[in-house]
Amino acid sequence: MNIVILAAGAGKRMHSALPKVLHPLAGRPLLSHVLDTARTLKPTRLVVVIGHGGDQVREAVAAPDVQFALQQQQLGTGHALQQALPLIDPSVPTLVLYGDVPLTRASTLQRLADAAGPGGYGVLTVTLADPTGYGRIVRDAAGNVTRIVEQKDATEEQRRIAEINTGIVVVPSGPLAGWLAALKNENAQGEFYLTDVVEHAIGAGVRVVTAQPDDEWETLGVNSKQQLAQLERIHQRNVADALLVAGVTLADPARIDVRGALACGRDVSIDVNCVFEGDVTLADGVRVGPNCVIRNAAIGAGTRIDAYTHIEDATVGAHAVLGPYARLRPGAKLADEVHVGNFVEVKNSVIGHGSKANHLTYVGDSDVGARVNLGAGTITCNYDGANKHRTVIEDDVFVGSDTQLVAPVHVGRGVTIAAGTTVWKDVSADALVLNDKTQIAKPGYVRPVKQKK
Ligand code: UD1
Ligand code: MG
Repeated sequence: MNIVILAAGAGKRMHSALPKVLHPLAGRPLLSHVLDTARTLKPTRLVVVIGHGGDQVREAVAAPDVQFALQQQQLGTGHALQQALPLIDPSVPTLVLYGDVPLTRASTLQRLADAAGPGGYGVLTVTLADPTGYGRIVRDAAGNVTRIVEQKDATEEQRRIAEINTGIVVVPSGPLAGWLAALKNENAQGEFYLTDVVEHAIGAGVRVVTAQPDDEWETLGVNSKQQLAQLERIHQRNVADALLVAGVTLADPARIDVRGALACGRDVSIDVNCVFEGDVTLADGVRVGPNCVIRNAAIGAGTRIDAYTHIEDATVGAHAVLGPYARLRPGAKLADEVHVGNFVEVKNSVIGHGSKANHLTYVGDSDVGARVNLGAGTITCNYDGANKHRTVIEDDVFVGSDTQLVAPVHVGRGVTIAAGTTVWKDVSADALVLNDKTQIAKPGYVRPVKQKK
């Protein structure tokens, strides 16, 4: 089967410089969702018809399996499909999808293709409580489809028909070129309607069938930001339902956003308002507190992530404790049983088994061994204003509070660093390191008093 995705329309009602089909749903362009679904059907050819913002669209979804047909002027859906004809295989049927209808299930499309068979004409239809605006499916007394009439061309009686054209069709490709060439644009919108092709097919004795989706939302399109927001909620609710079915505990399925792929083990629980982006894996027993943002990360079994923790491009071992208010930046690799507490930032660093940084600490470009304690306010000074340097802290080091480690610097195993120390030279194993400071106390000190004006 060929699949052609129509994506040349302007999307005026989005009021945006971004082409409509590139607006994100669950963090990815609408068109990417349609392409993903199309790919699951293993198309012979996959063609996207572009027009408005064509270069941008092409760049955003370019892939070896996608071909692009340019529709210079948007003269209607029939004209759009015509532009794809040179790129399709005429010996197999063509499935037409819309780039702004992102949530159609592959199983629904397969059902339509199966119903049409190799030579039939299939139309995906749905019966709506309010069919206003859509093309209506006109049937004869025997129930056979005779034509599709657009809202703007329909009579009062036709407008009462509740069965509508979703726009998704499967057509025999051989005769398609002739049918499209025969289209006229003598209608209310002066466009070459793809919907008129059905009459040519009937005239040629082709069997016309209809199929329906399991859910109405599968056929909803995006024309405005309101509709985009509605589809986002539908999609997120579907994702949440799938997580619940798989055994994940969600404090509130209406308050989770998954923009990518979230894989969860057994007994995972997720509190409200968490956002997951990219590929995230939560192993068995992971508990995620409220308001966490986790992007491209793997979290080990039994780890607890407390409220307001942000994690990006990081890995965390088992039975770790993170947050509240922890931040793991790209390249953070935490071993098992690491504790990273409030206002601790870790970037491009490895932290070994059982090490702890519980408060107000920056660990950047560092290799921290096992069982290390980083006291409150420990800062690795990794940047000299021009280059980044590494800090190495070996196993069993104790770092007192308010310590600065000026990289590059190497602290040997078992070292004890006194509170308030600036470490700018390497320290060999088992030493105590402190700076030479004196404490001065002047008794009876009188503070300045604010002067009256
Ligand atoms: C179309 C159908 C209508 C159906 C409705 C479902 C026709 C004539 N009408 O109407 O029966 O109920 O969809 O939503 O087909 N496009 C192009 N080039 C064009 C025109 C459109 O690529 O010249 C693309 C658009 O980007 C969009 C899709 O085709 O993805 C549908 O176009 P749109 O203008 O929204 O069609 P409707 O008037 O909604
Ligand atoms: Mg439309």
